[in-house]
Amino acid sequence: MFELQHKTALVTGAGQGVGAGIAGLLAEQGALVAVNDVDAERAEATAAKIRDAGYLAKALPFDVTDYEQVTAAVAAFARKASPFDVLVNNAGNAGSGAFRPKPFRASEPEEWRRFTDVNLFGVMNCAKAVIEGMSSRGHGRIITIASGSGVVGQAIGVSLYAAAKGGAIAFMRHLALEMASEGITANTIALGMIDPATSGRVANHTKKLAARIPVGRTGAPEDAGALCAFLASDQASWITGQTIHLNGGSYTS
Ligand SMILES: NC(=O)c1ccc[n+]([C@@H]2O[C@H](COP(=O)([O-])OP(=O)(O)OC[C@H]3O[C@@H](n4cnc5c(N)ncnc54)[C@H](O)[C@@H]3O)[C@@H](O)[C@H]2O)c1
Repeated sequence: MFELQHKTALVTGAGQGVGAGIAGLLAEQGALVAVNDVDAERAEATAAKIRDAGYLAKALPFDVTDYEQVTAAVAAFARKASPFDVLVNNAGNAGSGAFRPKPFRASEPEEWRRFTDVNLFGVMNCAKAVIEGMSSRGHGRIITIASGSGVVGQAIGVSLYAAAKGGAIAFMRHLALEMASEGITANTIALGMIDPATSGRVANHTKKLAARIPVGRTGAPEDAGALCAFLASDQASWITGQTIHLNGGSYTS
């Protein structure tokens, strides 16, 4: 039902995890998918996997935190392949490596900026890069992958991440108002716990976490992909400015 044939989608941070699942689902629905990641090898690996499955994908590596890189890559893709009808802002960091959770009082301003750069400014950089083209064609879909922690207090140690994701949620809500009359929708997915085995995170608490999710399992990247496919479709033209909680029924408000 949610066909994306003749649509071109950019999925950021799609070299692994949630983004790879979203890119795969959009491609299965017929979209040409630009697979972005800051890690070029990962981007190419995801794009190759999608092509091997018989769908359309090209790697498009760049760093979403670098506005010059973002605009250059988006313009080059438009020249060589197609402008973007769909943007999925997925690149972010949910808590690995330099982004490990820690209490605010133990954090430093440099770390605050690191979280905000990727989880908020990355969203703005990519939105800015695609929005004029979408506006000139009178059609566009912008979807941002945020987190339930951007809406409700969830855990100790995630204040920096939650602040950036909460900022992205507020940004998207107002972007939706600005662009609604031009055929561009802007929606956010407040994502719950995805199976760590699908991403770069450590799977240490998976069973305990799954037990707290009403449907009894952690999410799969394809759960996010299915919602993105719907939001990206023509059928979703009356949905904008929304924050949709995708979390297996976990408490959200
Ligand atoms: N996994 C979860 O349980 C969960 C829950 C809620 C929200 N989220 C959100 O979903 C998104 C994906 O999470 P994930 O678990 O798949 O993460 P992940 O760390 O497994 O994958 C993220 C990908 O983004 C890439 N990336 C990081 N910084 C980038 C940058 N500056 N430019 C381009 N690419 C960059 C990484 O190289 C990586 O391949 C994130 O925005 C995360 O905050 C995840």
